[in-house]
Amino acid sequence: MTSNSNKLSIREAVIITVSLITAGYSFYKLKETPSDEKKESKVNPPKSIDNITDLIGNTPLVKVQSLSKYTGCEVYCKLELQNPGGSAKDRVALKVIKDAIERKLITPHKEKKDLVFEGTSGSTGISIALICNALGLQSFITLPDDTSLEKLKLLESFGALIKKVKPASIVDPEQYVNSCIESCKQINEDVNDERKGIFVDQFENELNWKVHFETTGPEIYEQMDGKIDCFISGVGTGGTIGGVARYLKSEKKLKHLDVVVADPQGSGFFNRIRYGVMYDNLEKEGSRRRHQVDTLVEGVGLNRITHNFHKNEKYINLAYRIKDIEALKMARWLSNNDGLFVGSSSCINACSVIKYIEEFGYKNSGKRIVFVACDSGSRHLSKFWKEALNLKEDELMVTLDDL
Ligand SMILES: Cc1ncc(COP(=O)(O)O)c(C=O)c1O
Repeated sequence: MTSNSNKLSIREAVIITVSLITAGYSFYKLKETPSDEKKESKVNPPKSIDNITDLIGNTPLVKVQSLSKYTGCEVYCKLELQNPGGSAKDRVALKVIKDAIERKLITPHKEKKDLVFEGTSGSTGISIALICNALGLQSFITLPDDTSLEKLKLLESFGALIKKVKPASIVDPEQYVNSCIESCKQINEDVNDERKGIFVDQFENELNWKVHFETTGPEIYEQMDGKIDCFISGVGTGGTIGGVARYLKSEKKLKHLDVVVADPQGSGFFNRIRYGVMYDNLEKEGSRRRHQVDTLVEGVGLNRITHNFHKNEKYINLAYRIKDIEALKMARWLSNNDGLFVGSSSCINACSVIKYIEEFGYKNSGKRIVFVACDSGSRHLSKFWKEALNLKEDELMVTLDDL
């Protein structure tokens, strides 16, 4: 009996000893851990969100080191390509669709889905298609039948209903925007069709510039601590430049701010801003090809005044016309020197930074300049970037003076 209880107490003693050693070791390891590691995790991920559309906006602002170093100015780009749909058009599409839902023009998640219509060969269609899927709606996109394959594939991947039409003038009822308006009208007028539709109308719809006034402008102002000398953007609809310029100049009273249109060759905005006339030499009888604007650059440049541009034109004071070859060189420069792989309209914006600094002799002035990086180079692989990669070694810029 006694020896048995002795055996037990030896086992207990062993257990107690092992436990003490383990506890002591754990305490020692805990003390050894650096205090900052104990308090906070090494990762700092953003909070989870309920819907992909919650990621729209609040895009980063990045200093473009190569341009800043060579110009002695502070050059930043607003990375609109970081929106989930890959461009600033996410902001516009979300604003228009939410507004229509609030006004009960369309209702999400119906068995037979309500529709969102737009005539677009560009990024807007992709933004609409993504947002429709995320919010329980159906996108319907009309576009010219020569739209680039990568854009078409993206729209198909998002399950957009697609109607291709032959390229035609804006006065032609078969032109893709006019054809889209008609398709939308037919659904809304058909008493046997329970679906409803809205037409986004990005060129004329004022919600376009307003969303940039409410979001993009304030974001840039905050990110630049209110110190900004120049803002540069291309004009597609005029929504981005109009909304941002109005916010910075009229709301924030940055009277000294220069607002610059970066215009591709063949577009009319350069002459409009510089000389008050909307005309480009490429429009001369017989010299113009069938595209609106004869350039490799996509998404910007027009030969008509849109409502979104007109409403805010008074806030724009400068323009530069950028040749395709300059944009191509800049594409390679930004990719090679900064790891910025961007689309064609971003490149003409970056070229305009250099032209602006040259025109006013701002080299080494420390001026704070922001341009928009609208979309990624991956949207332009088959056209613009194909040409950029064809540049020969001796055509690439060694310094920015080679632009
Ligand atoms: C690639 C790209 N960059 C810039 C713009 C210009 O934006 P906005 O329509 O606001 O003038 C567009 C417009 O379609 C675009 O597609």
